[in-house]
Amino acid sequence: MSGTELITGIGELTTHDESGERRHDAALVIGDGRILWIGAASQAPAADRRTDVDGRAVLPGWVDSHTHLVFGGDRSAEFEARMAGQKYAAGGINTTVAATRAASEEQLVATALGLRHEAETQGTTFLETKTGYGLDVDSEARSARAAARVADVVSYLGAHIVPTGLDRRDYLDLVTGPMLAAVLPYVQFIDAFCEQGAFDVEETREVLLAGRAAGLGLRVHGNQLGFTGGVRLAAELGAHSVDHCNYLEPSDIDALAASATVATLLPACDLSTRQPFPPARQLFDAGVTIALATNCNPGTSYTTSMPFCVATAVLQMGLTVTEAVWAATRGAAASLGHDQGTDAVGSLRVGGLADLQVLNAPSISHLAYRPGVPLTANVWRRGVRVA
Ligand code: NIG
Repeated sequence: MSGTELITGIGELTTHDESGERRHDAALVIGDGRILWIGAASQAPAADRRTDVDGRAVLPGWVDSHTHLVFGGDRSAEFEARMAGQKYAAGGINTTVAATRAASEEQLVATALGLRHEAETQGTTFLETKTGYGLDVDSEARSARAAARVADVVSYLGAHIVPTGLDRRDYLDLVTGPMLAAVLPYVQFIDAFCEQGAFDVEETREVLLAGRAAGLGLRVHGNQLGFTGGVRLAAELGAHSVDHCNYLEPSDIDALAASATVATLLPACDLSTRQPFPPARQLFDAGVTIALATNCNPGTSYTTSMPFCVATAVLQMGLTVTEAVWAATRGAAASLGHDQGTDAVGSLRVGGLADLQVLNAPSISHLAYRPGVPLTANVWRRGVRVA
Protein backbone atom coordinates (compact mmCIF):
# COMPACT_ATOMS: atom_id res chain seq x y z
CA MET A 1 0.00 0.00 0.00
CA SER A 2 1.51 3.39 -0.93
CA GLY A 3 1.08 6.78 0.74
CA THR A 4 1.83 7.77 4.31
CA GLU A 5 0.66 6.06 7.50
CA LEU A 6 0.37 7.69 10.91
CA ILE A 7 0.87 5.27 13.78
CA THR A 8 -0.52 6.96 16.84
CA GLY A 9 -1.67 6.16 20.36
CA ILE A 10 1.78 4.70 21.16
CA GLY A 11 1.95 4.12 24.92
CA GLU A 12 5.72 3.61 24.96
CA LEU A 13 8.08 4.15 22.05
CA THR A 14 11.57 2.61 22.15
CA THR A 15 13.66 4.07 19.35
CA HIS A 16 17.27 3.13 20.17
CA ASP A 17 18.28 6.25 18.31
CA GLU A 18 21.03 8.31 19.88
CA SER A 19 18.66 9.64 22.58
CA GLY A 20 18.09 6.10 23.87
CA GLU A 21 14.97 7.11 25.77
CA ARG A 22 11.53 5.47 25.91
CA ARG A 23 8.92 8.08 24.90
CA HIS A 24 5.30 8.17 25.98
CA ASP A 25 2.20 9.37 24.10
CA ALA A 26 4.21 9.28 20.89
CA ALA A 27 3.34 8.91 17.23
CA LEU A 28 5.26 8.29 14.05
CA VAL A 29 4.63 8.59 10.34
CA ILE A 30 5.94 6.12 7.80
CA GLY A 31 5.99 6.30 4.00
CA ASP A 32 8.03 4.86 1.13
CA GLY A 33 9.44 2.25 3.52
CA ARG A 34 10.97 4.86 5.83
CA ILE A 35 10.17 6.76 8.99
CA LEU A 36 9.17 10.29 8.02
CA TRP A 37 8.36 11.79 11.40
CA ILE A 38 8.56 10.92 15.13
CA GLY A 39 7.11 13.09 17.90
CA ALA A 40 4.35 13.77 20.40
CA ALA A 41 0.98 12.38 19.36
CA SER A 42 -0.60 15.81 19.87
CA GLN A 43 1.68 17.31 17.19
CA ALA A 44 1.39 14.56 14.60
CA PRO A 45 1.02 15.71 10.99
CA ALA A 46 -1.79 14.47 8.74
CA ALA A 47 -1.22 11.25 6.79
CA ASP A 48 -3.08 9.18 4.20
CA ARG A 49 -3.90 6.48 6.75
CA ARG A 50 -4.03 6.28 10.51
CA THR A 51 -3.42 3.27 12.78
CA ASP A 52 -4.21 3.79 16.47
CA VAL A 53 -2.29 1.26 18.59
CA ASP A 54 -4.28 2.16 21.68
CA GLY A 55 -1.52 2.60 24.27
CA ARG A 56 0.63 -0.33 23.13
CA ALA A 57 4.43 -0.38 23.04
CA VAL A 58 6.25 0.17 19.74
CA LEU A 59 9.89 -0.75 19.17
CA PRO A 60 12.29 -1.61 16.33
CA GLY A 61 11.84 -5.00 14.66
CA TRP A 62 14.16 -7.69 16.02
CA VAL A 63 17.46 -8.27 14.26
CA ASP A 64 18.29 -11.97 14.39
CA SER A 65 22.03 -11.98 13.75
CA HIS A 66 22.77 -15.72 14.04
CA THR A 67 20.66 -18.43 12.39
CA HIS A 68 21.27 -21.61 10.38
CA LEU A 69 18.02 -21.79 8.37
CA VAL A 70 19.31 -23.73 5.34
CA PHE A 71 19.07 -27.38 6.26
CA GLY A 72 17.26 -30.61 5.60
CA GLY A 73 15.85 -33.08 8.12
CA ASP A 74 15.19 -32.92 11.82
CA ARG A 75 17.13 -33.87 14.96
CA SER A 76 14.37 -34.25 17.49
CA ALA A 77 15.65 -37.73 18.46
CA GLU A 78 19.06 -36.23 19.31
CA PHE A 79 17.29 -33.50 21.31
CA GLU A 80 15.31 -36.10 23.28
CA ALA A 81 18.47 -38.08 24.01
CA ARG A 82 20.12 -34.87 25.22
CA MET A 83 17.22 -34.10 27.50
CA ALA A 84 17.65 -37.62 28.87
CA GLY A 85 21.26 -36.83 29.78
CA GLN A 86 23.40 -37.27 26.64
CA LYS A 87 25.97 -34.48 26.13
CA TYR A 88 25.89 -32.24 23.05
CA ALA A 89 28.83 -32.82 20.67
CA ALA A 90 29.58 -31.18 17.31
CA GLY A 91 29.35 -34.59 15.55
CA GLY A 92 25.54 -34.36 15.32
CA ILE A 93 26.10 -31.82 12.54
CA ASN A 94 26.88 -34.77 10.19
CA THR A 95 23.25 -35.92 10.45
CA THR A 96 22.02 -32.59 9.13
CA VAL A 97 24.75 -32.53 6.46
CA ALA A 98 23.45 -35.82 5.02
CA ALA A 99 19.84 -34.56 4.96
CA THR A 100 20.86 -31.20 3.48
CA ARG A 101 22.82 -32.81 0.66
CA ALA A 102 19.77 -34.96 -0.13
CA ALA A 103 17.43 -31.95 -0.38
CA SER A 104 16.84 -29.88 -3.52
CA GLU A 105 17.54 -26.15 -3.55
CA GLU A 106 13.79 -25.48 -3.73
CA GLN A 107 13.21 -27.66 -0.66
CA LEU A 108 15.95 -25.82 1.23
CA VAL A 109 14.48 -22.44 0.27
CA ALA A 110 10.95 -23.53 1.23
CA THR A 111 12.07 -24.67 4.71
CA ALA A 112 14.13 -21.53 5.27
CA LEU A 113 11.34 -19.23 4.04
CA GLY A 114 8.89 -20.97 6.35
CA LEU A 115 11.20 -20.29 9.29
CA ARG A 116 11.73 -16.69 8.18
CA HIS A 117 7.97 -16.21 8.06
CA GLU A 118 7.65 -17.76 11.53
CA ALA A 119 10.28 -15.28 12.77
CA GLU A 120 8.54 -12.34 11.13
CA THR A 121 5.27 -13.08 12.89
CA GLN A 122 7.25 -12.73 16.14
CA GLY A 123 8.69 -9.36 15.21
CA THR A 124 11.92 -10.20 13.35
CA THR A 125 12.48 -7.82 10.44
CA PHE A 126 16.17 -8.42 9.59
CA LEU A 127 17.95 -11.71 9.65
CA GLU A 128 21.32 -13.33 9.03
CA THR A 129 21.65 -16.96 8.03
CA LYS A 130 24.55 -19.30 7.28
CA THR A 131 25.66 -22.13 5.09
CA GLY A 132 27.41 -24.94 6.95
CA TYR A 133 25.31 -28.05 6.37
CA GLY A 134 26.53 -28.70 2.81
CA LEU A 135 30.27 -29.08 3.40
CA ASP A 136 31.18 -29.97 -0.18
CA VAL A 137 31.63 -27.43 -2.95
CA ASP A 138 28.30 -28.00 -4.72
CA SER A 139 26.23 -28.33 -1.55
CA GLU A 140 27.76 -25.23 0.05
CA ALA A 141 27.19 -23.23 -3.15
CA ARG A 142 23.58 -24.45 -3.25
CA SER A 143 23.13 -23.55 0.42
CA ALA A 144 24.63 -20.08 -0.13
CA ARG A 145 22.31 -19.43 -3.10
CA ALA A 146 19.32 -20.63 -1.07
CA ALA A 147 20.38 -18.47 1.89
CA ALA A 148 20.69 -15.38 -0.31
CA ARG A 149 17.06 -15.90 -1.42
CA VAL A 150 15.86 -15.89 2.18
CA ALA A 151 18.08 -13.77 4.42
CA ASP A 152 19.28 -10.15 4.52
CA VAL A 153 22.87 -11.18 5.32
CA VAL A 154 24.57 -14.51 4.54
CA SER A 155 27.62 -16.03 6.23
CA TYR A 156 29.73 -18.83 4.78
CA LEU A 157 30.32 -21.59 7.35
CA GLY A 158 32.20 -24.19 5.34
CA ALA A 159 34.36 -24.50 8.47
CA HIS A 160 31.54 -26.00 10.54
CA ILE A 161 33.15 -29.43 10.98
CA VAL A 162 35.40 -31.65 8.90
CA PRO A 163 32.86 -33.96 7.25
CA THR A 164 33.17 -37.67 8.03
CA GLY A 165 35.84 -39.46 6.03
CA LEU A 166 37.77 -36.39 4.84
CA ASP A 167 41.38 -35.52 5.64
CA ARG A 168 41.58 -32.30 7.71
CA ARG A 169 44.27 -30.68 5.55
CA ASP A 170 42.43 -31.49 2.33
CA TYR A 171 39.20 -30.15 3.75
CA LEU A 172 40.81 -26.89 4.92
CA ASP A 173 42.27 -26.43 1.43
CA LEU A 174 38.77 -26.90 0.00
CA VAL A 175 37.16 -24.46 2.46
CA THR A 176 39.74 -21.74 1.81
CA GLY A 177 39.97 -22.44 -1.95
CA PRO A 178 37.30 -23.75 -4.36
CA MET A 179 34.45 -23.75 -1.82
CA LEU A 180 35.11 -20.13 -0.87
CA ALA A 181 35.22 -19.15 -4.55
CA ALA A 182 31.91 -20.96 -5.20
CA VAL A 183 29.98 -19.23 -2.40
CA LEU A 184 31.56 -15.79 -2.76
CA PRO A 185 28.85 -14.23 -4.98
CA TYR A 186 26.22 -14.91 -2.31
CA VAL A 187 27.85 -14.15 1.06
CA GLN A 188 29.04 -11.14 3.07
CA PHE A 189 30.74 -12.90 6.01
CA ILE A 190 32.94 -15.92 6.67
CA ASP A 191 32.29 -17.85 9.88
CA ALA A 192 34.09 -20.76 11.57
CA PHE A 193 33.28 -23.11 14.45
CA CYS A 194 36.32 -22.88 16.74
CA GLU A 195 35.72 -25.77 19.11
CA GLN A 196 36.90 -29.19 20.16
CA GLY A 197 35.50 -31.56 17.52
CA ALA A 198 35.45 -28.76 14.94
CA PHE A 199 38.45 -26.42 14.25
CA ASP A 200 41.29 -25.29 16.49
CA VAL A 201 42.50 -21.70 16.79
CA GLU A 202 45.14 -21.89 14.07
CA GLU A 203 42.79 -23.63 11.63
CA THR A 204 40.12 -21.03 12.39
CA ARG A 205 42.64 -18.22 11.80
CA GLU A 206 43.55 -19.70 8.41
CA VAL A 207 39.88 -19.90 7.37
CA LEU A 208 39.06 -16.38 8.56
CA LEU A 209 42.09 -14.85 6.89
CA ALA A 210 41.19 -16.53 3.59
CA GLY A 211 37.71 -15.01 3.88
CA ARG A 212 39.12 -11.60 4.72
CA ALA A 213 41.45 -11.77 1.70
CA ALA A 214 38.36 -12.46 -0.43
CA GLY A 215 36.66 -9.33 0.97
CA LEU A 216 34.39 -10.92 3.60
CA GLY A 217 33.69 -9.75 7.15
CA LEU A 218 34.54 -12.18 9.99
CA ARG A 219 32.35 -14.05 12.48
CA VAL A 220 33.37 -16.84 14.86
CA HIS A 221 31.52 -19.52 16.82
CA GLY A 222 33.69 -19.32 19.94
CA ASN A 223 33.94 -20.78 23.46
CA GLN A 224 30.59 -22.60 23.25
CA LEU A 225 31.66 -25.89 24.82
CA GLY A 226 34.95 -24.97 26.48
CA PHE A 227 37.80 -22.45 26.79
CA THR A 228 38.91 -22.78 23.18
CA GLY A 229 40.61 -19.46 22.39
CA GLY A 230 38.02 -18.57 19.75
CA VAL A 231 36.94 -15.43 21.57
CA ARG A 232 40.47 -14.06 21.84
CA LEU A 233 41.12 -14.87 18.18
CA ALA A 234 37.95 -13.03 17.13
CA ALA A 235 38.97 -9.95 19.13
CA GLU A 236 42.54 -10.12 17.80
CA LEU A 237 41.37 -10.27 14.17
CA GLY A 238 38.71 -7.58 14.67
CA ALA A 239 35.83 -9.92 13.80
CA HIS A 240 32.40 -8.31 13.65
CA SER A 241 31.09 -10.89 16.10
CA VAL A 242 31.99 -13.84 18.27
CA ASP A 243 29.00 -16.00 19.06
CA HIS A 244 28.13 -18.27 22.03
CA CYS A 245 30.79 -17.08 24.57
CA ASN A 246 29.69 -19.53 27.27
CA TYR A 247 33.15 -20.18 28.70
CA LEU A 248 35.03 -16.93 29.28
CA GLU A 249 38.12 -16.21 31.32
CA PRO A 250 38.62 -12.66 32.61
CA SER A 251 41.22 -12.15 29.85
CA ASP A 252 38.58 -13.02 27.21
CA ILE A 253 36.30 -10.32 28.58
CA ASP A 254 39.20 -7.84 28.64
CA ALA A 255 40.07 -8.71 25.04
CA LEU A 256 36.47 -8.16 23.92
CA ALA A 257 36.21 -4.92 25.86
CA ALA A 258 39.33 -3.62 24.15
CA SER A 259 38.00 -4.55 20.69
CA ALA A 260 35.03 -3.62 18.51
CA THR A 261 33.95 -7.28 18.33
CA VAL A 262 30.35 -7.87 19.41
CA ALA A 263 29.62 -10.78 21.80
CA THR A 264 26.54 -12.51 20.40
CA LEU A 265 24.74 -14.51 23.07
CA LEU A 266 22.36 -17.35 22.20
CA PRO A 267 20.21 -18.13 25.24
CA ALA A 268 17.85 -20.59 23.52
CA CYS A 269 20.86 -22.68 22.44
CA ASP A 270 22.23 -22.65 26.00
CA LEU A 271 18.93 -24.04 27.28
CA SER A 272 18.69 -26.68 24.56
CA THR A 273 22.28 -27.87 25.08
CA ARG A 274 22.24 -27.42 28.86
CA GLN A 275 25.37 -25.28 28.74
CA PRO A 276 26.04 -22.67 31.42
CA PHE A 277 24.82 -19.23 30.36
CA PRO A 278 27.52 -16.74 29.33
CA PRO A 279 28.46 -14.05 31.87
CA ALA A 280 26.23 -11.46 30.21
CA ARG A 281 26.22 -9.05 33.14
CA GLN A 282 30.03 -9.02 33.35
CA LEU A 283 30.31 -8.50 29.60
CA PHE A 284 27.87 -5.62 29.66
CA ASP A 285 29.50 -4.00 32.69
CA ALA A 286 32.92 -4.32 31.03
CA GLY A 287 31.60 -2.28 28.10
CA VAL A 288 31.38 -5.13 25.58
CA THR A 289 28.71 -4.67 22.91
CA ILE A 290 26.24 -7.54 23.28
CA ALA A 291 23.85 -8.99 20.70
CA LEU A 292 21.14 -11.57 21.28
CA ALA A 293 20.10 -14.01 18.56
CA THR A 294 18.11 -17.24 18.22
CA ASN A 295 20.77 -19.47 16.59
CA CYS A 296 17.80 -21.20 14.94
CA ASN A 297 19.10 -24.59 13.73
CA PRO A 298 17.88 -28.19 13.91
CA GLY A 299 20.60 -29.36 16.30
CA THR A 300 21.06 -26.98 19.20
CA SER A 301 18.34 -24.33 19.07
CA TYR A 302 15.23 -25.00 17.01
CA THR A 303 13.44 -21.74 17.69
CA THR A 304 12.83 -18.57 15.68
CA SER A 305 11.56 -16.66 18.69
CA MET A 306 13.48 -13.50 19.54
CA PRO A 307 10.94 -12.67 22.30
CA PHE A 308 11.85 -15.99 23.95
CA CYS A 309 15.55 -15.09 23.77
CA VAL A 310 14.93 -11.62 25.21
CA ALA A 311 12.87 -13.05 28.08
CA THR A 312 15.53 -15.68 28.83
CA ALA A 313 18.34 -13.11 28.74
CA VAL A 314 16.48 -11.06 31.34
CA LEU A 315 15.26 -13.91 33.54
CA GLN A 316 18.37 -16.11 33.42
CA MET A 317 21.34 -14.05 32.27
CA GLY A 318 21.05 -10.94 34.40
CA LEU A 319 20.33 -8.33 31.72
CA THR A 320 17.74 -5.62 32.30
CA VAL A 321 14.81 -5.46 29.89
CA THR A 322 16.23 -2.33 28.27
CA GLU A 323 19.64 -3.97 27.78
CA ALA A 324 18.15 -7.18 26.37
CA VAL A 325 15.91 -5.33 23.91
CA TRP A 326 18.86 -3.17 22.84
CA ALA A 327 21.01 -6.30 22.33
CA ALA A 328 18.27 -7.95 20.23
CA THR A 329 17.95 -4.90 17.97
CA ARG A 330 20.76 -2.36 17.84
CA GLY A 331 23.45 -4.67 19.28
CA ALA A 332 22.60 -7.35 16.74
CA ALA A 333 22.61 -4.75 13.97
CA ALA A 334 26.12 -3.70 15.08
CA SER A 335 27.27 -7.31 14.88
CA LEU A 336 26.22 -7.36 11.23
CA GLY A 337 27.64 -3.92 10.40
CA HIS A 338 24.11 -2.61 9.78
CA ASP A 339 23.69 -0.14 12.64
CA GLN A 340 24.81 3.07 10.91
CA GLY A 341 23.71 5.14 7.92
CA THR A 342 20.38 5.48 6.16
CA ASP A 343 19.83 1.72 5.83
CA ALA A 344 20.60 0.99 9.49
CA VAL A 345 18.36 -1.53 11.24
CA GLY A 346 17.64 -2.05 14.94
CA SER A 347 16.67 1.57 15.64
CA LEU A 348 13.86 3.94 14.72
CA ARG A 349 14.93 7.35 13.45
CA VAL A 350 13.62 9.92 11.01
CA GLY A 351 14.86 8.98 7.54
CA GLY A 352 15.62 5.42 8.66
CA LEU A 353 13.95 2.19 7.58
CA ALA A 354 10.40 1.57 8.80
CA ASP A 355 11.14 -1.84 10.41
CA LEU A 356 9.05 -1.84 13.58
CA GLN A 357 6.72 -3.85 15.74
CA VAL A 358 3.81 -3.26 18.10
CA LEU A 359 3.45 -5.36 21.26
CA ASN A 360 0.19 -6.44 22.74
CA ALA A 361 1.41 -4.77 25.94
CA PRO A 362 1.94 -1.23 27.26
CA SER A 363 5.70 -1.63 27.78
CA ILE A 364 8.69 -3.67 26.64
CA SER A 365 9.01 -4.88 30.24
CA HIS A 366 6.13 -7.28 29.46
CA LEU A 367 8.47 -9.25 27.16
CA ALA A 368 10.10 -10.71 30.30
CA TYR A 369 7.30 -10.02 32.78
CA ARG A 370 4.94 -12.24 30.73
CA PRO A 371 7.35 -14.85 29.34
CA GLY A 372 6.02 -17.30 26.78
CA VAL A 373 3.00 -15.15 25.95
CA PRO A 374 2.76 -14.28 22.23
CA LEU A 375 2.89 -10.48 22.53
CA THR A 376 3.62 -9.50 18.91
CA ALA A 377 0.61 -7.51 17.67
CA ASN A 378 1.80 -6.01 14.35
CA VAL A 379 5.01 -5.89 12.35
CA TRP A 380 6.07 -3.54 9.53
CA ARG A 381 9.08 -4.34 7.37
CA ARG A 382 10.26 -1.52 5.10
CA GLY A 383 6.91 0.15 5.82
CA VAL A 384 4.86 -2.86 4.69
CA ARG A 385 2.69 -4.65 7.21
CA VAL A 386 3.95 -8.26 7.36
CA ALA A 387 2.15 -9.39 10.51
O1 NIG B 1 25.69 -22.62 16.56
N1 NIG B 1 27.92 -24.48 17.14
C1 NIG B 1 27.89 -24.81 15.97
N2 NIG B 1 26.86 -24.77 15.14
C2 NIG B 1 25.48 -24.67 15.53
C3 NIG B 1 24.81 -25.96 15.76
C4 NIG B 1 25.18 -27.00 14.92
C5 NIG B 1 24.39 -28.27 15.03
O2 NIG B 1 24.52 -28.98 16.03
O3 NIG B 1 23.67 -28.53 14.06
C6 NIG B 1 25.36 -23.80 16.75
O4 NIG B 1 24.96 -24.22 17.82
